[in-house]
Amino acid sequence: MSFRILSAAEAASLIKNGYTVGVSGFTPAGSPKAVIVEVAKNAEEEHAKGNPFQISILSGASTGDSCDGVLTRAKAMRYRAPYTTNGDFRKAVNNGEIAYNDIHLSQMAQEIRFGFLGHVNVAIIEACDVTADGKIYLTAAGGISPTICDKADIIIIELNSAHSKNMIGMHDVYQPLDPPLRREIPIYKSSDRIGTTYVQVDPKKIVGIVETNMKDEARDFTEPDPITDQIGVNVANFLVSDMKRGIIPASFLPLQSGVGNIANAVLGALGRDKTIPDFEMYTEVIQDSVIDLMKAGRIKFGSTCSLSVTNGCLDEIYGNIDFFRDKLVLRPSEISNNPEVVRRLGIISMNTAIEADIYGNINSTHITGTKMMNGIGGSGDFTRNAYISIFSCPSVAKGGKISSIVPMVSHHDHNEHSVNVVITEQGVADLRGKSPVERARAIIENCAHPDYKQILWDYAKLAGKGQTPHCIQAALGMHAELNETGDMRNIDWGKYGK
Ligand code: COA
Repeated sequence: MSFRILSAAEAASLIKNGYTVGVSGFTPAGSPKAVIVEVAKNAEEEHAKGNPFQISILSGASTGDSCDGVLTRAKAMRYRAPYTTNGDFRKAVNNGEIAYNDIHLSQMAQEIRFGFLGHVNVAIIEACDVTADGKIYLTAAGGISPTICDKADIIIIELNSAHSKNMIGMHDVYQPLDPPLRREIPIYKSSDRIGTTYVQVDPKKIVGIVETNMKDEARDFTEPDPITDQIGVNVANFLVSDMKRGIIPASFLPLQSGVGNIANAVLGALGRDKTIPDFEMYTEVIQDSVIDLMKAGRIKFGSTCSLSVTNGCLDEIYGNIDFFRDKLVLRPSEISNNPEVVRRLGIISMNTAIEADIYGNINSTHITGTKMMNGIGGSGDFTRNAYISIFSCPSVAKGGKISSIVPMVSHHDHNEHSVNVVITEQGVADLRGKSPVERARAIIENCAHPDYKQILWDYAKLAGKGQTPHCIQAALGMHAELNETGDMRNIDWGKYGK
């Protein structure tokens, strides 16, 4: 079967007002880059005529500006799930302009299959190759592509020559059966391959191919600073100490590492600490730091959903594919983040918090409880099921006006029952085996910034006795103080007097 070649505008004309569109990719890696830009133009034209035009976008995780950015600015996004990082999108969500459903990434594909998210009209899939019998070879991410290809009425392929055909063979595509037929996912070590190297579709569903040559809209990360470096060293020291105590086996356990600057610094420190043996990753996103550690021989294998690396780094992988081929596998997010596999492999999860409370509850998503930052991503998939779940963050934000350690989190993503360790540049609070009151002592003593230690001790005194002591009217007092005076350090617990 030969496929029709379409321009991006022709492909976009197939997408109508009210449609739900599923897109490939996971982070900007592997996301479509051409067709949605034309959809946004169509929307603007329709709006100018006074007609409604909005669509819903389902993805693996964040996308590039050519999806979330253009649609937001064109006011063409009605509904979006799951994780995003786009600044314009964030503003629109926080203005109440877009319905945003922040779903755990491992659940996204199955929620689509189960029908929780309604009908999928169109799938747009970025590929590095496609065969006449419907084998789609994905680019730099697994995402939810297999599921949206199954569920969508039609498939549009963006065949992107900026992605080398050397990507063929890197993916391991597998979809579990749905209950009551589901069986175990047969991954017993990070490097196990259980599926196919392509997404198989009915070729009749592919309505056309849009040829592109566009690099991933890769993000740059800032270099680690002394604070993030110190967090990295604290994480590495903690893991070494657990290894010496025999809690972590001497052969080590696979690591999951979150997104962002802190995650990069943590990996850098782990790579430098030679008391930690060469290790494997079972994670959702591989950033440049992982590839550097692979070249240095420190990381033996990486199972991931996406290669969310800079373009130079991706070119390096494509150019040295013989070196990387047996060190990397790309999986759909349903598998890369699967709770069953995370628990079986004994993964050590390392994610970043916006704020942690004194009892070990974590806010990963909302600034001062109301403003969405990015989303929960895969942090819940890993944290709840990890062998050891670690959260790290700088002890303060915004030049010290905000303490990341607070009496009560202003939004709740990961609870005290799932969080094992909290780490800041100040130190490590090992929460395992501790009661809430013991946890509070460890977190205030070891993790809080010196400017906030006494403030938090004073809160603990105000909270009094109990299983999880709180003075309910004061629990968000530091956040209220931030709203009122712009600085949490101004808190006066006296006004909540007892
Ligand atoms: N109050 C207000 N702002 C805060 C804050 C707090 N308590 N803590 C952090 N911030 C701000 C920082 O000041 C920074 O703002 P800026 O962009 O204006 O400089 C921003 O949040 C990012 O913080 P940073 O310290 O640079 O960390 P990061 O880049 O590692 O991002 C998260 C941190 C939590 C936002 C990010 O890791 C995330 O989105 N996590 C959720 C998803 C996830 O965990 N995925 C893991 C699986 S891959």
